[in-house]
Amino acid sequence: WALFAEDVEAILELKRTRNAVILAHNYQTPEIFHCVADIVGDSLALAREAMKVDADVIVLAGVYFMAETAKIMNPSKTVLIPDVEAGCSLADSITPADIRLMREAHPGVPIVAYVNTNAAVKAEVDICCTSGNAAAVVRSLGVPRVIMLPDQYLARNIAAETGLDIITWAGQCEVHELFTAADVRQLREDHPGVTVLVHPECPPEVVAEADFAGSTAAMSHYVGEKRPPRVVLLTECSMSDNVAVHYPDLEFVRPCNLCPHMKRITLKNIRRSLEENLHPVEIDPEIAARARRSVERMLAI
Ligand code: 13P
Ligand code: SF4
Repeated sequence: WALFAEDVEAILELKRTRNAVILAHNYQTPEIFHCVADIVGDSLALAREAMKVDADVIVLAGVYFMAETAKIMNPSKTVLIPDVEAGCSLADSITPADIRLMREAHPGVPIVAYVNTNAAVKAEVDICCTSGNAAAVVRSLGVPRVIMLPDQYLARNIAAETGLDIITWAGQCEVHELFTAADVRQLREDHPGVTVLVHPECPPEVVAEADFAGSTAAMSHYVGEKRPPRVVLLTECSMSDNVAVHYPDLEFVRPCNLCPHMKRITLKNIRRSLEENLHPVEIDPEIAARARRSVERMLAI
């Protein structure tokens, strides 16, 4: 605590003087998640909550596409991302030009973009989804065939869940692609009775071996509701740290892969972002308006 106290206190004071709120993703480190964040959640919750923020400033403790989504949904606010290099391998895997080529190649097939995309990509697609609502989004379209991009694993997992014909893109999350089905089998051998929860960005063969697959918020709810005595969350490292705090009676087995982008956000750069107004997210208004339409369609489901 001694390591963090000065920055935590400075951030709490800066939030008051600047009328700011901090939105933090479930993968942020515990000192951010538990000590300075006002709102925490998965990508879906952060998009919804960003719309409702009444403060002057939103600091997004997460990755760049999340800060962009907050700006898209609440454009009159100052949205700060403490490190502009906090990217995402999925968002980096696809461009607006790629979307236009997909449309030409598959005329009339609706395009669903994962929120892990940049604003210019969101502006080109028909609707967005998150890992928390992807199945509901594709079903809502009422057609047998959809394009879902850029995460090929999420798309294949949703195809298996819904039985729909889903055209994929060759993107992957650099964190979740590392988990294997052999890892799950080994965990079960090493930790008898363990309940295995996985994120749907994991490859389908990993999901097939798991007890449950869901968004970071869905994993959290599963633990709260079912109280598995021994549990493993196959996802980013901080997730178990953040959830385990609430359940000292449960045993969390903790193999994990770190997201280097999420870990670029620290107490120090959150403090600096509030002190020096770093780094405000700006989006071309025409692109932002079209991207907003895709996010709003998703939120309406
Ligand atoms: P969630 O929407 O499940 O929080 O996932 C976001 C993410 O980046 C997962 O890697
Ligand atoms: Fe992107 Fe994967 Fe990091 Fe999530 S965990 S921000 S999907 S690279």
